[in-house]
Amino acid sequence: MKLENKTIVLTGASSGVGLDLLNALGASNTIINLSRRAPPEDVVRLLPGFVHIATNLADEVSVELAIEAITQSFPDGIDGLINCAAVQFLPKFTDIDFDPASIATEIAVNLTSPAQLIHGLLGSLRRRPESFILNVNSGLGLVPKKESAVYCATKGGLDNLSRGLRAQLGGTNIRVQQAFLPLVDTPMTAGRGNGKLSSQEVAGQIIRGIERGTPDNDIGKARLLRVINRLSPSIANAIMQKGDS
Ligand SMILES: NC(=O)c1ccc[n+]([C@@H]2O[C@H](COP(=O)([O-])OP(=O)(O)OC[C@H]3O[C@@H](n4cnc5c(N)ncnc54)[C@H](OP(=O)(O)O)[C@@H]3O)[C@@H](O)[C@H]2O)c1
Repeated sequence: MKLENKTIVLTGASSGVGLDLLNALGASNTIINLSRRAPPEDVVRLLPGFVHIATNLADEVSVELAIEAITQSFPDGIDGLINCAAVQFLPKFTDIDFDPASIATEIAVNLTSPAQLIHGLLGSLRRRPESFILNVNSGLGLVPKKESAVYCATKGGLDNLSRGLRAQLGGTNIRVQQAFLPLVDTPMTAGRGNGKLSSQEVAGQIIRGIERGTPDNDIGKARLLRVINRLSPSIANAIMQKGDS
């Protein structure tokens, strides 16, 4: 599927990878963005079809209102849903600054809201002859690191959700795809990690994966991680426990 003249719901276009997906797709597609902040004015000024729906993805009511707004404003349906937004809290459970309230927020934004959006927008996705769901995942969804245990669990859960829905929707017009990212240079990873890919490069690879119909698009070091994990889960685990991520 060529991503041109499509109507695509994208979460998290105010920053990082989502903003670069908007930059790459916004001129030739209608992008409906869900995030709390709007993307920068100098970007959206150049995108005539762009729609921002201010949404708190940690709040089920806010997500429900966004789904209603999309289904009412786009009665002919949508061609794609890209679940890109996520949060990652770094403190370990044993750290003094670990905030127990962060558990619910991280699960809501990273796992509940993608599931809620997929369910709420299924009817819109069914209205097109060919449509896609792309969930942005992480190498940490394959093998967890020591920090951010809840984040890793949400990404592992997102992988299972995606594979389950891929089976449920088999034989329909909707393809369920994932992109597994390595460390990317965005505000999420500011001040940590080495050898990061640029969010522009990663956005381009995500788009190519969608267009080719790749079910699980492993990007950069995520590709090697999946291979090592398949051959020796204990070595993959040791690498991630030591890793600088
Ligand atoms: N950066 C990496 O190294 C890396 C590696 C692997 C996977 N990933 C994945 O790549 C995706 C993009 O991450 P990124 O690095 O680009 O992160 P980022 O720059 O921190 O951007 C996160 C986006 O999520 C949105 N968001 C967060 N909480 C929200 C909430 N409660 N309601 C609505 N929107 C919310 C933010 O928008 P607002 O703040 O405006 O609401 C922002 O647009 C995520 O799925 C992440 O897990 C990133």
